[in-house]
Amino acid sequence: MNQNLIEQFKSAGQGHVFAFWEQLTAAERTALLAQAGEVDLAETARLFQSLVASKASAGSSLDGLLPAPYEQLPEKGGDAASWAQARAAGEAALRTGRVAAFTVAGGQGTRLGYDGPKGTFVITPIKGKSLFQVFAEKIAAAGRRYGRPIHWFIMTSHANHEQTETFFVEQNYFGLDRARVHFFRQGRMPAVDFNGKILLETKSSLALSPDGHGGSLRALHRSGALDIMQREGVDVLSYFQVDNPLVRCIDPEFIGFHLLRGSEMSSKMVPKVGPEEKVGHFCLQQGRVCVVEYSDMPVAMQQLTNADGSLKFGSGSIAIHVIDREFARRMAGGGVGRVIPNAPKTPEPGGLGIIRPTTEVPALPFHRADKKIPTVDASGAPVKPEKPNGVKFELFVFDALPFANNSIVIETARADDFSPVKNATGVDSAQTCRDDQLRQIARWLKAAGTTVPVDATGLPALRIEVSPLFGYDAASFTEAWNRQAIKPEIKDGLYLE
Ligand code: UTP
Repeated sequence: MNQNLIEQFKSAGQGHVFAFWEQLTAAERTALLAQAGEVDLAETARLFQSLVASKASAGSSLDGLLPAPYEQLPEKGGDAASWAQARAAGEAALRTGRVAAFTVAGGQGTRLGYDGPKGTFVITPIKGKSLFQVFAEKIAAAGRRYGRPIHWFIMTSHANHEQTETFFVEQNYFGLDRARVHFFRQGRMPAVDFNGKILLETKSSLALSPDGHGGSLRALHRSGALDIMQREGVDVLSYFQVDNPLVRCIDPEFIGFHLLRGSEMSSKMVPKVGPEEKVGHFCLQQGRVCVVEYSDMPVAMQQLTNADGSLKFGSGSIAIHVIDREFARRMAGGGVGRVIPNAPKTPEPGGLGIIRPTTEVPALPFHRADKKIPTVDASGAPVKPEKPNGVKFELFVFDALPFANNSIVIETARADDFSPVKNATGVDSAQTCRDDQLRQIARWLKAAGTTVPVDATGLPALRIEVSPLFGYDAASFTEAWNRQAIKPEIKDGLYLE
């Protein structure tokens, strides 16, 4: 059996993976074989040929690209009645327990450079709550509001799985019901050098890395998470990234639009701040919603404007989605397309109105990323490369959008949904995110009738923190604030819980 695997690697031109075999202990050999068993040699060869050897990229074709239509916020001219209907539909789904939260937390977080799972990173300005705690409290708050505790699925990686689970145990699951918090690992892909050879990380291990957030769809299936959802009556997943504590993880309006439009995968957009902002663009191609990355769209196209001066391709993707359980299963190759029973029969104004059940098994494309991958030299000595020495292959979740029937995009206010922590300093850092949290609280206080002094950017000089269990949006904050018979003094360090 072992010999078989080694032979397979040799005949695929990957025999070097076992170059140090004679020097390895029995345990190291077992571990190496287990890793080798994870590798799909044919897939690796195909990806090398198509993405590296042929110098092509998985970049999108720009043929016939149009801006994707989206549901505008009522305050931006959208139809308030539709938003109210959506809210009611989303709330009904939450009351019947159809919705689960889904966090993708398997990334390597290299830019942040924090030692530990990113979700354990401290992010609130006063209490120093971790990202995971913020989400846990938002999820608990929504569960209370709708009278149904919410299941939470968390995708980890091989590298951070144990540490993530241990953190939750140490924190007593932040008071959540343990039976409703589900961790599962995402898949891994081998990194190859520029000749297609699988890189060794050490003499006894391969350079394996997580297969991208798009790997979440197959990981949901492989791990049995989709079956747990089915058993628990969950058919809709609210998808968000681990690095964005501002996200409304459970947003009834978003969920409601998704359900009312019979969408299989929906997205939130924010207007780009300018043509140079580095976010993906929601577009329409052959009648299907897709995301074209900023690196794949020519600058001239990003600069195109409408008659009113707004950007033509101005819908920025912020990686927040609602995904149908059965769509995830189909994308994972675990089932065939289905007809959506309640989908509209004619095109909806502003919607796509396309019902095209797919019967073939769809597949996400891989993207290549050239990276500096720690490896070993011919003698087995460690090498820390100073320039990219190989390629990693990753799947992106938004590549599933064109396969989704009736996919819709809705607008959201950036300040209330998006402030990611990507970098140690500068843009999208802990500092900018804490400031955005403070600005949000200043706005909520103002909406509730109490003004705190703020600067020109809306940033208050006082640090105030609000527990999501007190209020998690302007409306719930105002309700809670109004319930306080004696209003707390607004001062630096105030914590509302
Ligand atoms: P990023 O694209 O920011 O990647 O992930 P990253 O790995 O976290 O950070 P860098 O690029 O190394 O600095 C966006 C979201 O997708 C998740 C991340 O955990 C984050 O929530 N993700 C990314 C996964 O779950 N798995 C992956 O393989 C990649």
